[in-house]
Amino acid sequence: MARTVWDSSVGKKTVMAVSGLVMLAYLVVHMLGNLKIFFGAGEFDHYAHWLRTIGEPFMHYEWTLWVVRVVLVAAVVAHAVSAYQLSRRDIKARPSKYVHKKPRTSYATRTMRWGGIILGLFIVWHILDLTTGTVHPGGFQSGHPYQNVIDTFSTWYGNAVYIVAMLALGLHVRHGFWSAAQTLGVGSRTRDRALKATANLLALVLTVGFISVPVGVMTGVVS
Ligand code: HEM
Repeated sequence: MARTVWDSSVGKKTVMAVSGLVMLAYLVVHMLGNLKIFFGAGEFDHYAHWLRTIGEPFMHYEWTLWVVRVVLVAAVVAHAVSAYQLSRRDIKARPSKYVHKKPRTSYATRTMRWGGIILGLFIVWHILDLTTGTVHPGGFQSGHPYQNVIDTFSTWYGNAVYIVAMLALGLHVRHGFWSAAQTLGVGSRTRDRALKATANLLALVLTVGFISVPVGVMTGVVS
């Protein structure tokens, strides 16, 4: 049964929609949490510490965080694998006489593909930067994310990487949210306008909210 669903295009699109919505929920929470940086180092670092102690004493230190990490990795892998397989299917389904012509993919499909690749690379960079500290400029201090964020956005490339990725994120969420709604059967003639407006609003709020952090550091509001 699960195999039949996964083998169908609709099944893969459903996997994309559900995994995308899981990541979207995480992003809304992550963006809101990031805004705590505007309340100062004490509050931001305290918040980061709390993320590791959620559910105590039932959960051990960092257990809830690890549950979130596992769910997110599963969502990223499911999203990427189904996207890849759907695009392979798309190419195979094209009549061979088109093979030498220009690719017949739409503007939206191309931006979603490139946006997805940019975001995948960004996630790897972001974890190496602010979680493990591997590519972090300056001395990475575990448990002091406020200072780490300031260090990142004190370099031109830190700002460039994050701002480009956040713009890609906005475009990806805008189209992705809309597609997910269609796949899951939420769309209808009466609801489509509201769905489009929600997609635009979500994309805008996420992009502006995330970008406000590097802008805050660049302008000295966060220092
Ligand atoms: C300007 C934008 C962003 C800033 C300033 C930022 C900041 C941070 C910081 C400081 C942490 C470490 C928190 C801690 O260790 O307590 C973190 C973790 C994380 N961020 Fe972001 N983030 C941004 C955008 C994003 C985006 C767009 C994504 C996803 C596409 C993302 C995904 C993650 C993930 C998955 C982690 C958790 C890594 C882990 O602990 O396993 N972030 N972020």
